[in-house]
Amino acid sequence: MNPIKVGICGLGTVGGGTLNVLRDNVEVISARAQASLQVVHVGARRDNPDCDLANIRVSRDIFEVAHDPEVEILVELIGGTSVARELVEAAIVSGKHVVTANKALIAVHGNEIFALAEKHGVEVRYEAAIAGGIPIVKALREGLAGNRIEWLAGIINGTGNFILTEMRDKGREFSDVLAEAQALGYAEADPTFDVEGIDAAHKLVILASLAFGIPLKFDAVYTEGITELTTQDVGYALELGYIIKHLGIAKQHAEGVELRVHPTLIPDHLLLSDVDGVKNAVLVEGSAVGPTLYYGAGAGAQPTASAVVADLVDLARNFGVEQSNRVPALGIAQSSLRDLPIIPMANIETPWYLRMEVADKPGVLSRVASIFSEQGISIEALIQKAPAEGQTLVSLIVLTNKAPQGSVDTAVGGIEALDAISGKVTRIRVEALDG
Ligand code: HSE
Repeated sequence: MNPIKVGICGLGTVGGGTLNVLRDNVEVISARAQASLQVVHVGARRDNPDCDLANIRVSRDIFEVAHDPEVEILVELIGGTSVARELVEAAIVSGKHVVTANKALIAVHGNEIFALAEKHGVEVRYEAAIAGGIPIVKALREGLAGNRIEWLAGIINGTGNFILTEMRDKGREFSDVLAEAQALGYAEADPTFDVEGIDAAHKLVILASLAFGIPLKFDAVYTEGITELTTQDVGYALELGYIIKHLGIAKQHAEGVELRVHPTLIPDHLLLSDVDGVKNAVLVEGSAVGPTLYYGAGAGAQPTASAVVADLVDLARNFGVEQSNRVPALGIAQSSLRDLPIIPMANIETPWYLRMEVADKPGVLSRVASIFSEQGISIEALIQKAPAEGQTLVSLIVLTNKAPQGSVDTAVGGIEALDAISGKVTRIRVEALDG
């Protein structure tokens, strides 16, 4: 069988998983690829004790893999954006196809990398960059190619979802769960990327480009993490019939595109509400197909390796195919992408969950209500909690109807200025996810 020579740079969680999947599933992979995928060269600063590197050339300098004339496909699994970009560009210029799991690299430098790959007649594949083992790139780029994508919303950071689930179900401390996610190999090298929403923003920007045919615009994503979430708000949301999830949301409107990552209350009856632990899911609304949901493991060695190997098989199937007959990296040639405007957050309308700590005395509720009314914000539901023993403050939880963030900002400013209010108002957006 025709051999295709593969070089792998980076032998951490995903690199190790990829070698193992290639070895364990060799027969089915070769049959599907109609070629044998042979790892001939590995570049890694150190060995991975879980990997058998017999008959594989090992270099400590990863650029030796990029310059190895035997290597036909380079798999970039080192992470980061600067050395990884140099490595990938060196491989492209040397005429090698590239597979990467690096969402930061694609989100930040993807436009330049894809253009370079087009110029050199090679492909860059990145299924493993988003939602671990879920074939969401394939789904958006190929499976849904007949649809206008109206919007998508996803739980696209496994570490964050794992933390939120453990906090909600077991009352565990944030830092304790994060340490476990790191030990399990879910978290980024810098875990603030997970908990501050940066990792989800990287993935969202790629999904949005695939969905709407726009260039990658990482700087345009509004990003809020999960570090400020409290178990108190998780509990009140449940009382109101909602689950709090950390979502990446992209929507297309006539006037432009929404791109945002933030904690979100979603109705508890949605399938997405049951996506727990390290699992990811992406809900995509297509104009013809309607809503479709993609679910699976969002992080970890084997699931991410599953996506890396799928890309290798796809590339192997395309060997010898003219560039004009290959599927472009974002589904549309770089020159045909449309640069749509990004809608400012102040104009984006959602319902809101607002919690404020207020003095338990007459007139406070009516003053709060009149501030909402002045901003044209209507109240959908309201809960007031009795003060705890010996306390004078009560929690007032307000669920609003749809209101633009700009009006909510003004109302919250007015409420926080009232003497009867203690501290800041907690604000979390709500999404019905029904179109
Ligand atoms: N740190 C990422 C996550 C890994 O937790 O989802 C997969 O991209």
